[in-house]
Amino acid sequence: MAILYNDRLTERDRIHVDIEDRAYQFGDGIYEVIRVYEGRPFCLSEHIQRFERSAEEIRLQLPYGRKRLEGFLQELIAKNRLKDGTVYLQASRGAAPRSHPFPDGARPVIIAYTQEAPRPLQFLEQGIQATLTKDIRWLRCDIKTLNLLGAVLAKQYAVERGCQEAILHRDGRVTEGSATNVFLVKDGILYTHPANHLILHGITRAVTIEAAKEEGIPCREEAFTTDSLFRADELFVTGTTTEISPVISIDGRKVNKGTPGPITRKLQQAFEKRI
Ligand code: PDD
Repeated sequence: MAILYNDRLTERDRIHVDIEDRAYQFGDGIYEVIRVYEGRPFCLSEHIQRFERSAEEIRLQLPYGRKRLEGFLQELIAKNRLKDGTVYLQASRGAAPRSHPFPDGARPVIIAYTQEAPRPLQFLEQGIQATLTKDIRWLRCDIKTLNLLGAVLAKQYAVERGCQEAILHRDGRVTEGSATNVFLVKDGILYTHPANHLILHGITRAVTIEAAKEEGIPCREEAFTTDSLFRADELFVTGTTTEISPVISIDGRKVNKGTPGPITRKLQQAFEKRI
């Protein structure tokens, strides 16, 4: 399988990770996960744009521009004959003797590889179970950094409770999921946390808001409380690999009747048309 390593495609076993790579030691880097449907990357330019923004926010200078990066990723997908799956893209600040400040002269390291993955059809159809837990992450969740320990601990907490996702809250206000954005439906209105520093500005979230507009479903980017989760008519999470997945229970308590609701279904259909 081919991988992208800086500015060339090569084989995985021909490269190595330096023990002093800052991604490895500090989580000092950024990433993207891009969905590929039938060999076509979905929302590629949006992902690259967010990647560039993340780089800028952590003051990491990418070695080449958008067009070249897009070209490399397309080449990678073609070379690996990826039909349905994901591309993982990462940039590290590079390798240097371990010391916290930005190193002089370290070269950023870019890697990307592909992975085959089917669409999560069972979850899309039947929904997922979620658990509620505290959001213990930092205050720049809008940057897609490699520091994922808060997300890892939250997801593990969910898995140990037989759930597929952890819904996070800060002081009783729902922010997002461990790897998804969260939407609630109440009285025909869609609610989701505003795209500020407390959540990742999800690309699937943006597609969902746009689809809602087209379908005439009012959408308010407002934070909602954990209490309102339990009074929701419908609840769903969005993400690159999750798409629009209905949430049918929280900590074992059913969301409404415990089945995916009509607005969720409408948005799933609208999403499906775009892929
Ligand atoms: N996760 N919120 C968080 C914290 C995320 O990590 C993700 C994505 C999302 C959804 O964003 P998008 O729609 O752009 O994928 C929201 C990726 C898929 C991951 O880490 O695997």
